[in-house]
Amino acid sequence: MDKYIAANWKMNNDFSDIAPFVKYIKKNAKHEKNLIVCVPSTMIKTFADTAKKLVETGAENCYFEEKGAFTGEISANMVKSAGASYVIVGHSERRQIFGETNEMLNKKLVAALKAGLKVIFCIGETLEERSKYKSVLKKEIVEGFAGITDFSNIVIAYEPVWAIGTGVVATTADIVKVHKYIKTLVKDTFGADVAVLYGGSVKPSNSKEILALEEVDGVLIGGASLKAEDYIAIAQSR
Ligand code: PGA
Repeated sequence: MDKYIAANWKMNNDFSDIAPFVKYIKKNAKHEKNLIVCVPSTMIKTFADTAKKLVETGAENCYFEEKGAFTGEISANMVKSAGASYVIVGHSERRQIFGETNEMLNKKLVAALKAGLKVIFCIGETLEERSKYKSVLKKEIVEGFAGITDFSNIVIAYEPVWAIGTGVVATTADIVKVHKYIKTLVKDTFGADVAVLYGGSVKPSNSKEILALEEVDGVLIGGASLKAEDYIAIAQSR
């Protein structure tokens, strides 16, 4: 199976970027598989309608309640009905800036799976936590996946927080070591095999080396996913 090439636009790009982005992919990457582009919620429908089957569309977040008085929130069903097939849950920016806890993220994961979405579940340690990354990741995994028995629609993204948007990339030795740890932990705790993507300053100049690692099942790309040229260059470095 082709490794996952997942984009996270975060709060960047605009409606006017969607058509040229998709057009470039159509022209340059017709046979690429496992392309996922996660966009701001207001752009999901337009992106999905434009990209159709060429790329899978993802949301960057959703709320765990199905409906009700939650001003400003968007449910997993809303995300799905707008045309998304994926949703990112637990991005470090959601955890750090918006105070999302493992308990909340577990509820979001459950809600997303119930709505029929595939989930990119992010975990990762901060710079201060680096020396104890094992216990940090273990807590995020054990609490985040509590009660989950079916991992077939879950992909983990390991994103060391110190490598996000900083230009600092984990060494390949670090990536291999941590991905092995995550896969073994999920297997031992939940009896499941899970794909693990790497994220953090992935760009065309380093993606080939990262994607060549056996333990890496794909990448989650922030900054370098905003331009179709870079995104496709990364996809073609598989
Ligand atoms: P970055 O972001 O590629 O800009 O480091 C990755 C992410 O936050 O998903």
